[in-house]
Amino acid sequence: MKILLFGATGSAGGSVLRACLASPAVEEVRAVARRPLPLTHGKLRVFVHDDFLDYARVADAFAGVDACLFCLGISATQVSGEAEYRRITHDFALAAARALRVRSPEAAFHFISGQGTNVSSRFMWARVKGEAERDLIAEVGAVCWRPAAIDGVPSQSEPRLFKVLRPLYRGLSPFRNLYIKGEDLGRAMLLAAAENMRGRIVENAEIRDLADRAGGRV
Ligand SMILES: NC(=O)c1ccc[n+]([C@@H]2O[C@H](COP(=O)([O-])OP(=O)(O)OC[C@H]3O[C@@H](n4cnc5c(N)ncnc54)[C@H](OP(=O)(O)O)[C@@H]3O)[C@@H](O)[C@H]2O)c1
Repeated sequence: MKILLFGATGSAGGSVLRACLASPAVEEVRAVARRPLPLTHGKLRVFVHDDFLDYARVADAFAGVDACLFCLGISATQVSGEAEYRRITHDFALAAARALRVRSPEAAFHFISGQGTNVSSRFMWARVKGEAERDLIAEVGAVCWRPAAIDGVPSQSEPRLFKVLRPLYRGLSPFRNLYIKGEDLGRAMLLAAAENMRGRIVENAEIRDLADRAGGRV
């Protein structure tokens, strides 16, 4: 598979990248990021880009891929308000999904939202993520992933609290609805891409089931 990846410099996306690079089913990963990645690999091509609402200058990255794994996102604690959160969470993802539809019409779009996402929530982050899920499923039949605590690679951009909490996450690992290893999230996404899953929401326990089923196959 050829995979287009967003958020590769982040904790979730960095883990998904590692799963992609380790996978025998992935021949190429194209990462669109606003800064260079901390690693190089024979299967990896990096497209440094600065406008996540307009991908015209990196259109080649979108051509001839099998799936896009959209792991770009931000905590609501790191933005100035709803407008900025919506731009990054909803608008960036919709713009990428539309560019994918033009350049790789058969490809699947996979979006990481998060556990608790709910279009009717009184919490702004959950509502905006819910709107992103709703619009992505309606427009491109996206698969929307709702991980709980992701035990991912450390990242420069994540909130400091997440760094502090990460070792504590591991105590949650027996609970299949509360914890996921970052690379297992990547393996689950790759299995779903290989099996051409479309148009639905995947909660944490199912992510773990998919990762178990993926084993070393993807
Ligand atoms: N970590 C968890 O436990 C967890 C659980 C459930 C859901 N999620 C969701 O997963 C997604 C990723 O989270 P994470 O923990 O990986 O966060 P992270 O470590 O902060 O990574 C965020 C990624 O998004 C990119 N990004 C953020 N704002 C951007 C902007 N304005 N323009 C371009 N790129 C931008 C970052 O790029 P730079 O490196 O250039 O900043 C980075 O690649 C989020 O939507 C989050 O809500 C995370």
